[in-house]
Amino acid sequence: MDHFELKNGVLHAEDVPLPKIAEAVETPVYVYSRATFVRHARVFKDALSKLDNPHIAFAIKANPNLAVLRILAREGYGADVVSAGELDRALAAGMKAEDIVFSGVGKTMQEMAHALEQGIGQFNVESEEEGIELSTVAKRVGKTAHIALRINPDVDAGTHAKISTGKAENKFGVAFDKAKGIYVRLAALPGLNVRGIALHIGSQLTSLAPLEAAFVKVGTLIADIRSSGAALTHVDLGGGLGVTYSGDDNPPSPADYGDMVARVTRDWGVRLMFEPGRVIAGNAGILVTQVIRVKPGGGNVPFVVVDAAMNDLARPAMYDAYHEFVAVEPNGQRMTAHIVGPVCETGDTFAMHRETDEFVAGDLAIFRTAGAYGATMASTYNSRGLVPEVLVDGDRFAVVAERIKPATILAAEHVPDWLD
Ligand code: LLP
Repeated sequence: MDHFELKNGVLHAEDVPLPKIAEAVETPVYVYSRATFVRHARVFKDALSKLDNPHIAFAIKANPNLAVLRILAREGYGADVVSAGELDRALAAGMKAEDIVFSGVGKTMQEMAHALEQGIGQFNVESEEEGIELSTVAKRVGKTAHIALRINPDVDAGTHAKISTGKAENKFGVAFDKAKGIYVRLAALPGLNVRGIALHIGSQLTSLAPLEAAFVKVGTLIADIRSSGAALTHVDLGGGLGVTYSGDDNPPSPADYGDMVARVTRDWGVRLMFEPGRVIAGNAGILVTQVIRVKPGGGNVPFVVVDAAMNDLARPAMYDAYHEFVAVEPNGQRMTAHIVGPVCETGDTFAMHRETDEFVAGDLAIFRTAGAYGATMASTYNSRGLVPEVLVDGDRFAVVAERIKPATILAAEHVPDWLD
């Protein structure tokens, strides 16, 4: 459920009519609903209420906006970060250092030192090599690194290949059959408190079956590791729960996910940790765009050219992702059209043969379910600016990330005088 609805024929974000935001901030612009973020945060938390003190870390990569992170910090969320930049954002938003988990296959030693100095709660270590480096860094800065070893359970998450992370051929984690040996060896190193295991098998998962299969494997590994005498007190189950992009999607509810987790992990005797991203942010944001013009296309299917492009919302070009596209002030007429952006690539296509509202030049429209992996994946390709972000709360709104204009980007570039 979200708070982007038609009221008197005009799409609103909570109580703010979208044309008002478009007029004030111009388009394209991402618009977030505070009430939707809060609702999703609470629904996910409630779904885990059968568990003993679960740790919930929002996967910042899904939406790193500072104001969004502040909302989630207030809901008691920690953060899952994958770079020093994300770590600093989490801290700036008021998330507690001990509630921050550092994931990722390529942490540098500088990032490790920075994270240790900030006192972060856990490193999810993705290789033995990384664990050995982290031990060296921890000794050097005089801190203990609490770590979970990320394992690759080799299950097929049944999602798009580019966002599947738990198959043996993916770069993430250590091979399942090597995990015990690595765990025990790392546990013997100074500066490390090896306390658990972590996994994350993919994103936009629309079935619980692969998650359950992976968790069952983890259960056997826990017993195996403990049988060697090593301590194991934490398991990070990652994120991955899918959301509804189109009417055809039927992702499991957080409540069903919570019930499955409670059942499978009943006897583990650990503190469970979670890293949800999309399920919190996806439907809490939209991308508002304006139709530049409608031009004829082959086979009598017109192109609706909008002012948002693949640099603003990369998902359709990158993963053939579906985003619902609707008019801000629908006139009741329908059309079939290709929805495209202005970037000079055929891939800058949001939808082909889409049955949608009727559009003419100047109309406003939205892409729904753009709150996760939207603004954060934007680029300046074709020398376009970086799209701004607006947060709505009831009948008020604020720009929470400014539009970065092409001139600002140009001003950071320099021609060395030896070129002249
Ligand atoms: N934890 C780890 C270690 C991850 O790699 C990810 C996502 C998450 C948590 C959060 O997963 P979520 O709950 O959001 O599914 N850009 C792609 C998605 C990439 C996801 C990468 N990892 C997209 O737009 O679909």
